[in-house]
Amino acid sequence: MAVTAVIGAQWGDEGKGKVVDILAERADLVVRFQGGNNAGHTLVVDGQVYKLHLIPSGVVQGKVGVIGNGCVVDPFVLVKEISDLKARGITPQLRISDRAHLILPYHQAIDKAEEEAKGAAKVGTTGRGIGPCYADKASRIGVHAGDLLHPKRLDEKVKQNVALKQALLTALGSKERLDAAATLKALQAVTPTLQPFLTDTVQLLQAAAEAGESILLEGAQGAMLDLDHGTYPYVTSSATASGGMCSGSGLAPRQIGDVIGVVKAYTTRVGSGPFPTELSLEKGPGEVMSRVGAEVGTTTGRKRRCGWLDLVVVNHAVNLCGINQLAITKMDVLNGLHEVLVCTAYQMPDGRKLTHIPSDLDEFAKAKPVYQSFAGWKDLGDGTWESMPTEARKFLQFIREKTGATIKFVGTGPGREQTVVVR
Ligand code: IMP
Repeated sequence: MAVTAVIGAQWGDEGKGKVVDILAERADLVVRFQGGNNAGHTLVVDGQVYKLHLIPSGVVQGKVGVIGNGCVVDPFVLVKEISDLKARGITPQLRISDRAHLILPYHQAIDKAEEEAKGAAKVGTTGRGIGPCYADKASRIGVHAGDLLHPKRLDEKVKQNVALKQALLTALGSKERLDAAATLKALQAVTPTLQPFLTDTVQLLQAAAEAGESILLEGAQGAMLDLDHGTYPYVTSSATASGGMCSGSGLAPRQIGDVIGVVKAYTTRVGSGPFPTELSLEKGPGEVMSRVGAEVGTTTGRKRRCGWLDLVVVNHAVNLCGINQLAITKMDVLNGLHEVLVCTAYQMPDGRKLTHIPSDLDEFAKAKPVYQSFAGWKDLGDGTWESMPTEARKFLQFIREKTGATIKFVGTGPGREQTVVVR
């Protein structure tokens, strides 16, 4: 099948960038279909580290990168990302949907003001204006990327929105003063850089699929951050799970073939919200995951919360997204641990044992993990499945058995070449 999707099967930061980078070798187009520069994909190619937030990772290999209609685009961040890549000798082949929505300075101001107003109940957003931008899209007052090419329309929309947002900010007690003229001037300055890339990406992708070209859909964040199916309200504002693949790209469900779920060998989460297998970052295995795994957000620099692998979470993603293959990342971070735990169910205070995520968040917050224990491993061999120690293979086979998905890749280090391809 010509269309393959890569989806984060936890709370994001599973190491999707590297998996996409490996698969991109055989792809013609690599497509982002949701989210914006709240994402941070790190890839290490030939010892060079690339940190991308908005541009699809495949462009590092010279593939066509598509920013689909389901994305939200900060035009200033995008222009900077394009120029940073150019400075490193990569001229990205980009296509940006004219229907993607623009994140403008007032979205970041509202993101910040709303988080402050929420106090202890804050979501812990990345502060990039993602939620307010998607809210405008749903309220039908958003600004399309294509509006950049229509100055009169852009002028009207920005001025109208700035007036609305100023009223909201003032009501929230923010001292921020928005400036429509300055925003319009800044947009005028970046338009010539973006103009050549703006197009109807739905037609482009449909034509590519029809012609049998190989399309890779690159998910951002993870299924547990999905607006509908994640730990609402501690989620992002887009459809990170299956729905987003189609609505955010314009491809149809039957056009999508393999869905590869990316699963870190343990779990991390940034921001607030329940996390049943969470460990202390100060001592023991949680400290090891945080330190050895360098678990610090690519976008925000915040320390990620860490805990054992939770297969209830992974199976939620498997079921939602139709995941049939898995990429297990960062196995090497657990090297040297005496014992490795995997959560297989939740024990609830009323005696029930659950193997699904409760839809009520308060209930989910009370879930206590039921663990299966595995003997740890010292190292992961020489890069082949056969050379992996029995203990590591037992852990992987257990994941396969419990999810019903085939394990395709196992990450044994940060580099592209530090990946076991399971045949
Ligand atoms: P937002 O997407 O900035 O609105 O943030 C909403 C929630 O999603 C917060 O808990 C963020 O930490 C989380 N989040 C957003 N993007 C990512 C990501 O790329 N990786 C992990 N968590 C993310």
